[in-house]
Amino acid sequence: MPRSIKLSDGKSIPAIGWGNGTGGLFGNHDPAITSGVEALKAGIYHIDTAEGYKTEQATFEAIKQAGVKREDVWITTKNISPDREVIRSNVLERIEKLGSKPDLLLIHFPTVPQQGTTGQFWTILEELVHDGTLEGVSLGVSNFRPQDLEDVFKVATIKPVVNQLEYHPYVLEHLQPVLDLGEKHGIITESYGLLTPLLRHPTGGPIKSVLEKIAKRISGETGKEIDLASVLTLWAIQKNVVVVTSSRNPVNLKKISEIDSLPELSQDEIREIEEAGRKVHFRHYKMHMTKDYPNPELPEDL
Ligand SMILES: NC(=O)c1ccc[n+]([C@@H]2O[C@H](COP(=O)([O-])OP(=O)(O)OC[C@H]3O[C@@H](n4cnc5c(N)ncnc54)[C@H](OP(=O)(O)O)[C@@H]3O)[C@@H](O)[C@H]2O)c1
Repeated sequence: MPRSIKLSDGKSIPAIGWGNGTGGLFGNHDPAITSGVEALKAGIYHIDTAEGYKTEQATFEAIKQAGVKREDVWITTKNISPDREVIRSNVLERIEKLGSKPDLLLIHFPTVPQQGTTGQFWTILEELVHDGTLEGVSLGVSNFRPQDLEDVFKVATIKPVVNQLEYHPYVLEHLQPVLDLGEKHGIITESYGLLTPLLRHPTGGPIKSVLEKIAKRISGETGKEIDLASVLTLWAIQKNVVVVTSSRNPVNLKKISEIDSLPELSQDEIREIEEAGRKVHFRHYKMHMTKDYPNPELPEDL
């Protein structure tokens, strides 16, 4: 059984998901179907899509073409309707494109609701749960800063189950307040951009040598070539963080599907990754994340 993480509403989400919003899949119907089929065939039964990616219909097609039962796949989508009056029709459109209700619906950004209306937006989503439209669907948020979460907590009778964020060791210092607040309210962090230290940081920074040492240890124990991306993913899921990654490469998809069966990191190894990670600050997806939520005073590299 693939590893899963328990949400505060009682449901369990597969700990590793495959997203069709990056890597050339954004807005690309046919490639999103082909890669989605490959991800499912590799055994990754968790797809992260969004209204904004224009890949919800491709998600439905991929599940159909892979011959997988809908109920065996976890689907997260996100909405970007800015207007309270059309939230209901927007949600119905998500369900129509996906061919079924999603398992999890997120407000994609705190900037989706018009300024000052986040609480009202959340209340409308709750009403849709109560009237049956979103019955059985978990509700969450994405890219929410502490102040955005507080806007929801002021009104929520159903708390968000997740906050999906750019999450990796080089944003830990910056995210600490939002992670602490989330933990206090039982919110699970979902990570996107996890591989930023390896793929987008100019040198790999101070965690690189730590990950290399751990990869060598696990490779020696398993007799398999374990790469740094797998070590970083293990680190995140051991912290009870859901990882949403992506790939169009069958070799990497196979690696992602095998992470579950790798030996765990020790507490010392986890601590070493974080101590090194907290020495720098490096973010790839900037958006609104530093607005009224300042960056830590750290260099981007040592
Ligand atoms: N909520 C939001 O605002 C938000 C924002 C961004 C992303 N997301 C979601 O998160 C998903 C993933 O985002 P991301 O692309 O930033 O995630 P990521 O995990 O940081 O990077 C994914 C990239 O890593 C490469 N990769 C995968 N396994 C690898 C390995 N073992 N070694 C080397 N490279 C490897 C893949 O390229 P190959 O094809 O070459 O394997 C892929 O393009 C998106 O598709 C989307 O669903 C959400």
